[in-house]
Amino acid sequence: MTINHNGKLFIETVGCQMNMLDSELVVGALRKEGYELTSDIREADTILFNTCSVREHAEHKIYSALGRLKYSKQTRPSQVIGVLGCMAQKDQELVFQRAPHVDMVVGTGQLAEVPKLIEAARERRERSLAVSLDRKEGTRLEVSDSFQSYDPLREPEMRPSPHQAFVRIMIGCDKFCTYCVVPMTRGPEQSRPPRDILHEVRVLADQGVKEVTLLGQTVNSYKVNQDGKQFRLSDLLESIHDVEGILRLKFVTNFPKDMTDDLLQAVRDLPKCAQYLHVPAQSGCNEMLKRMKRGYTIEDYREMFGRIRQTLPNASVSSDFIVGFCGETEEAHQKSLDVIRECRFKNSFIFKYSPRPGTKAYDLLIDDIPESVKKSRNQDMLTLQNQISAEDNAGFIGREVEVLVEGPSKSEVKRGDSSSATGPVQLTGRTTCDRIVVFNGNPRLAGSLTTVSVEDCTPTTLIGSIVTQQVQHGSSPLLPILM
Ligand code: 5AD
Ligand code: SF4
Repeated sequence: MTINHNGKLFIETVGCQMNMLDSELVVGALRKEGYELTSDIREADTILFNTCSVREHAEHKIYSALGRLKYSKQTRPSQVIGVLGCMAQKDQELVFQRAPHVDMVVGTGQLAEVPKLIEAARERRERSLAVSLDRKEGTRLEVSDSFQSYDPLREPEMRPSPHQAFVRIMIGCDKFCTYCVVPMTRGPEQSRPPRDILHEVRVLADQGVKEVTLLGQTVNSYKVNQDGKQFRLSDLLESIHDVEGILRLKFVTNFPKDMTDDLLQAVRDLPKCAQYLHVPAQSGCNEMLKRMKRGYTIEDYREMFGRIRQTLPNASVSSDFIVGFCGETEEAHQKSLDVIRECRFKNSFIFKYSPRPGTKAYDLLIDDIPESVKKSRNQDMLTLQNQISAEDNAGFIGREVEVLVEGPSKSEVKRGDSSSATGPVQLTGRTTCDRIVVFNGNPRLAGSLTTVSVEDCTPTTLIGSIVTQQVQHGSSPLLPILM
């Protein structure tokens, strides 16, 4: 452990699940060095921001937080401030220019170096910029090598829930959708070897993990050549499925064009696979999809959706949409609403287009949709999606659902420490189709499958009560499994 600091670490994480996983791993590595997490930034000698660049708003938030720390080193000379992740990779030197009190800027491919760089900053007051090559700065191999996947052994107590874990199966993205910075901030697509992934899942299962979510920007593009044969996501699911102790397997995020039948069949045939697929459409209008360079038409998306319905009639599907992309007409917007009406997504994540430097859309297309129009289209879409989610959730009232219990609900956690409670508290969990369920029960049920009778709902949540209190450690042979 380095000298002259209080060992208190504050980390703020914005962005996607990939970032949550990265933060978990960075914190795990620092705990090994004796650091202790604090949720109070004022008492931390080590402050890290794990950042997101997908939309401008996420970057603003971090630069404002950095601005508030401008003078904090005057009272805390041993303080080290680090900017990690996507914005670090994207902005590089610019971070130091905009926030000169930052000590280290560490890209997504250098996170393993964080402990060493903190020490250099504290002991030698060395400022460091550790980033990967830009995509045009070298050969594909050189650029790929400069993005190191960060997958050390895990610290079980750092996971948000002891029973759930993210496992990275690939890094990077090669799709280059015109609006998106991810291919730049996370580098070329690289799939991890199946044996490393399987080993990690086994370790997690030994630590008590029940639900594993496989992560990739385009997770269903996963492929590795092994023994002269292509090993795909469907093969990976099959091999992980045998790991004892794991009750549920999920994977996000899917790219529509790579939603192959072998994958749908694996989800159908492997009982631990969640009946849930997140497959972003982004738009319902072919002209927009072309400008976004998504590589499919809306007819292709419909065809893919039909195959999902046919193979997995009970699965839920969720989507992402961008509103107000360059040149989006009212007619184009209506076409996106039509897709939502037709596909009846479980939920949709809706984003107002945010032009991102470094992308094709930023360089070549005009961000011509006024903010007020983006806002109202965003609202239209939310209203429609909420209405559909509420109707479909209402269809669950009166039914019994199997739920993997996650633990006390957020409101319960806010109220006080319920982890040691023995009486019933409000618990939360998810169905296999990824619907959130709240119900009263014993906190010790966390990590088990239980059956809940649904009595009420909101657009985002099913509300019910437990049918059986029995704690099951395997999938339940006794109870009817509905959704
Ligand atoms: N502006 C708005 N939304 C974006 N997304 C990606 N890039 C942008 C952008 N520049 C959205 C897409 C993607 C999700 C993670 O974020 O919908 O699926
Ligand atoms: Fe971004 Fe497109 Fe890659 Fe998704 S598939 S990460 S939207 S470039």
